[in-house]
Amino acid sequence: MSDTKFKPVKKAVFPVAGLGTRFLPATKVIPKEMIPVVDRPVIQRAVEEAREAGIEEFIFVTGRRKSAITEHFEIQPELIEELEAKGKEKLLEKVRHSDMESGKLMTAKQQKALGLGHAVWCAKDLVGDEPFALFLVDVMILAEQGCMAQMIDVYNKTGGNVIAAYDVPRDITHKYGILDVEDKAAELSKIKGMVEKPKPENAPSTLSIVGRYILQPEIFDILENQKRGAGNEIQLTDAMVKLMADQDFTSLRFKGESYDCGHHVGFIEANIAFALADPEFGPQMREILQKYQDRPGTTRNEPRKATA
Ligand code: G1P
Repeated sequence: MSDTKFKPVKKAVFPVAGLGTRFLPATKVIPKEMIPVVDRPVIQRAVEEAREAGIEEFIFVTGRRKSAITEHFEIQPELIEELEAKGKEKLLEKVRHSDMESGKLMTAKQQKALGLGHAVWCAKDLVGDEPFALFLVDVMILAEQGCMAQMIDVYNKTGGNVIAAYDVPRDITHKYGILDVEDKAAELSKIKGMVEKPKPENAPSTLSIVGRYILQPEIFDILENQKRGAGNEIQLTDAMVKLMADQDFTSLRFKGESYDCGHHVGFIEANIAFALADPEFGPQMREILQKYQDRPGTTRNEPRKATA
C-alpha cells in the first residue's frame, strides 16, 4: 500500500527516439542509450533508478532503428540456461537486472523529431489519466538513494509536479531549462517560473532542470497545442510554464551528482565516477587514475588513415 493521499506514480516515460548524432560514428548502428556506462547500458541504469522508485510500467518513446533498446529487456531463456549450466551465478544475477516482466514494457513511436515536448506527448495514451515519472536518460545521476526515489518521497508529501534541480555554473545556463524558485538555497522550493536555455544574463537562477520529472497528466493537453519554442522545437518547459498557472510545481535539490552524458566529456566523466563508485571496479580504478594524473596526453588517438 502506498502511504500517500495522492495518486501513486507507477508509470515512467523514457524518451529515447533521439538520433544520437553527437556520438557518431559510435551511434551509427547502436542507439546511444545502449552505450554502456561501466558495465551496463545507460537505459538499463535509468530503468533501475525507476524500479527503485516503485515504478511498475515502463514506456519507451522510440524512433527508427531503436529496437535494440526494447530487445535488451527481453528475457533470453537460452542465455539463462547456459549461464546456469556453467554455474555463472554472478553473471546470471547481472543479466536478470535487465529482464522485464511480461506486459510491463510499452513503446510509443515518435514519428517526427519535433522536440522533447512532442516526445512526451507521444506517451499520452499509454500514460492515461495518471501522474508519471519522466526520465531523460542523457542525464545520469549518481546517488545513494536514486534521484527518482527521492522525488517520489517528496511527491508523497506535496502531490502536484516535482522537478529535480541541480546547480550549474552560470556560464552554461544556455544548455538547460532553468528554474525560478521561491527559495534558491532550500532543498525543496515552490517553483515560480522556468525558462528553456536562457543566456547567462537572463537566467533567473543557476538551478537547472536535470532530466527527472514527476508530472500530472494535464500536461498532455497542453503539449497537444504547444507551439515551437527554443531551438524551433516543441519544448516541455514551455508546456510546464502553462501548467504552473493551475498546478503546483516543487523543485527538489536532490542528494547526488548529475552527469550530462549528452556530450563526450560528460559521458567519460560519468564512466569514471560510476566506476569509482562500483564495489567491483572502484579500488582498481582509483589506482589506475592515479597513474594517469600527471601524464601528458601525447599519444595519438585519432582515427587511423590508410597509408598511401
Ligand atoms: C532537455 C530539457 C531541459 C533540461 C535538459 C536536461 O534539454 O529541455 O530543460 O535542462 O534536457 O538535460 P535537451 O538536453 O534535450 O536539449
